[in-house]
Amino acid sequence: MSYYIGLMSGTSLDGIDLALIEQGGTTRLAATHYMSMPEELRQEMLALCTPGPNELARSAIAEQQWVQLTAAGISVLLEKSQIAPEKIRAVGSHGQTIRHEPALGFTIQIGNPALLAELTGLTVISDFRRRDIAAGGQGAPLVPAFHEAIFASSERKRVILNVGGFSNLTLLSPDSPVRGFDCGPGNVLLDSWIQKHQGKRYDDNGSWAASGKVQNALLQLMLSDDFFSRQGPKSTGRELFNSSWLQQKLSVLPECQSQDIQATLLELTARSIVDSIATESIDDLFVCGGGAHNLALIRRLQALLPSCKVSTTQKMGIDPDWVEAMAFAWLAHCCLEGIPANRPSVTGARGLRVLGAIYPA
Ligand SMILES: Nc1ncnc2c1ncn2[C@@H]1O[C@H](COP(=O)(O)OP(=O)(O)O)[C@@H](O)[C@H]1O
Ligand SMILES: [Mg+2]
Repeated sequence: MSYYIGLMSGTSLDGIDLALIEQGGTTRLAATHYMSMPEELRQEMLALCTPGPNELARSAIAEQQWVQLTAAGISVLLEKSQIAPEKIRAVGSHGQTIRHEPALGFTIQIGNPALLAELTGLTVISDFRRRDIAAGGQGAPLVPAFHEAIFASSERKRVILNVGGFSNLTLLSPDSPVRGFDCGPGNVLLDSWIQKHQGKRYDDNGSWAASGKVQNALLQLMLSDDFFSRQGPKSTGRELFNSSWLQQKLSVLPECQSQDIQATLLELTARSIVDSIATESIDDLFVCGGGAHNLALIRRLQALLPSCKVSTTQKMGIDPDWVEAMAFAWLAHCCLEGIPANRPSVTGARGLRVLGAIYPA
C-alpha cells in the first residue's frame, strides 16, 4: 500500500484541491483539504493568462506564493489524515495553467516543484503535460486513464464528465479504447458573467441561469465556433474562450437581459457536451468537478440525454469535488512505477508515454 498526494489548481482559479490517496490494487481517497485562492494571487494568475509586461519574472514570483500556500495546505492535509509524512511516496502537482497552446507546441503550468519539494521534504512530480505535447499530442485531457481505472464497466457505456473552468469528458466503452477531449467552456464564462453583473464568484446551483431565458440566436452564434464542430483530439483554454470571445458574440446581436445571457451560457455548456456525444448511446453519465453542484446544468444534461442516466460520481462512491486531485495523485504513482498515463486515442500523441518530472525529496 502506498500513499500519494494530488494537487489540483484548476482554470477556474477558485482554489487548490488537495487529496491524499491510498494506492494498492485499488485507489482509495484517504483525506482531503481545500484552500481557496487568495484574491490577490487569483488576480495575478488570471493576468498571467494573457500577454503582459515582465511576465517571466511575474510568473516566477506568483508561483512561489502559490507554493507557500500549497506547502501549508499539505501540512494541514497530513494532520487531518493522521498519516506520517514519511509514508507519502510522492506529491503529484498539476500546477497552475497560465497558457495552453498545443498547436504552437507548448503548455505552461507554473508551481515551482523544486521549492515545493524543499518546503515539504516530499518527492514532487509535476510537468505532466509537456511530454505528451512533445510526442505530438494535445497534452490534455490527462484524466481519462484514471477515469478508466476507477469507473470503467464491462457492460455499460459510460461518460465521465468533468466540469471545471473548462469541461472535458471521458468515453468508456466496453471493449474499445478510451476516448476523451475537452468539450468547451464549463464554468469559465458563467463565472465571469455573474462576477461582472452580480459580483459573485459563481452562480450557486445555476439558479440565476435558471431564472433567465435562453437566447437562441446567441446560442447558435456561439455554437458556430469551429471548436465545437471539430472532432477530438482537442483541448482548449482561456486563450480561446474568454470575455473578449463572449463580448464579440454579444456585439452582433440586440441587447438582452443579463440573466438571459447567463441562461444561454449554461445552455452552451450543456449543448457543447451533449452534441459531442450525440452519436453515442451512453448508458451512464457521471459528472465531477465544481459543475456537479450546478443543479440547473445537471437538469439540462438529463433533459438533453433522455435515455442516459445522469448523476454525479458520488453515485460511484467518489465525491465529485476530489476526482481531479485524486487523478494527479494517481498520475504521480504512474510516473514512479513507469506506467504510461497518456492515452494516444485521447490526446493524439504518437504513442504511450510516462508522464511527469521527478523532484526527489
Ligand atoms: N454550488 C455551486 N453551484 C454552481 N456552480 C458551482 C458550485 N460550486 C462550484 N461551482 C463551480 O465550480 C467551479 C470550480 O470547479 P472546479 O472543478 O474546481 O474547476 P477547476 O478545476 O477549473 O478549478 C466554480 O468556479 C463554480 O463555477
Ligand atoms: Mg478548482
